[in-house]
Amino acid sequence: DRCKSGLDLKTMWVEIGLILVEILTACADGLTMEGCENGWTFHKHLCYQLNSDPYGTLTHGEAIAVCMAKGADLTSVWGKKERDFIAQELLSTSKEESAWIGLRQDYRGNKYVWTWSDGSPADEASWKYGNTDDFTGLCGILRTDGTEDLRNCTDPLRTFICKKNLKMWYVVSDVFENAYRDEDFSVEPQKLLFERVWPPKVELINDYLKHLAKTTVSKETDCAYKCFRANACRAFSVQCIVNWNCEKYDCEVYRPNAF
Ligand SMILES: *[C@@H]1O[C@H](CO)[C@@H](O)[C@H](O)[C@H]1NC(C)=O
Repeated sequence: DRCKSGLDLKTMWVEIGLILVEILTACADGLTMEGCENGWTFHKHLCYQLNSDPYGTLTHGEAIAVCMAKGADLTSVWGKKERDFIAQELLSTSKEESAWIGLRQDYRGNKYVWTWSDGSPADEASWKYGNTDDFTGLCGILRTDGTEDLRNCTDPLRTFICKKNLKMWYVVSDVFENAYRDEDFSVEPQKLLFERVWPPKVELINDYLKHLAKTTVSKETDCAYKCFRANACRAFSVQCIVNWNCEKYDCEVYRPNAF
């Protein structure tokens, strides 16, 4: 399968040594090749999930709540490319012909404004329908043919699409090499550089890294600094808390199990 044919991986990691290459070319348990959780589809540094329940239906508000429970949002659709991706790659695999997307009106500053449920502005809808209360109680759907429309927000739909940020992993560039060669972690931390692990390999993280702490930071470099300051930290992961506006990140720091 795709994960085991890892030619790209071998090229990427060739300096690091054969042992690591073997680990990296095995498929991750919890993550897809691109680093989304299993069951999510990667597209342009975001992860999407089609939810389609043949036995149950949800209102727009309930679909938002389910996505939020997964640490995601009901998807926003920021343009034609994203709309086509969702319609062709995700919706086409469902039996339903339409799905909830995050479009709805928000009452802001005395007027109704079309907004995506993740908080991003829905300019196309504002332009098309106007920011008036004529559409109160209506929410966005996307059809398999790639067209958007409005439905009563309380209508029962079987299908909706969640979207979330990719979690990015960074490791000290030589941590694993050291671990294998002589288990020597006495290298001065300021001499170590963090490298993005791409594609991320969760089994690598699980098997070789132990969770130290989770915190909120405003930049990826702040997370690197937290790791640098934490005793024995040699890796970290960061993920935007809000998928359309990376002002804050969840930062998690790790140390090698072998330490
Ligand atoms: C949505 O459906 C509910 C229940 O059928 C109805 O009371 C409400 O008026 C509808 N809203 C719109 C905007 O059509």
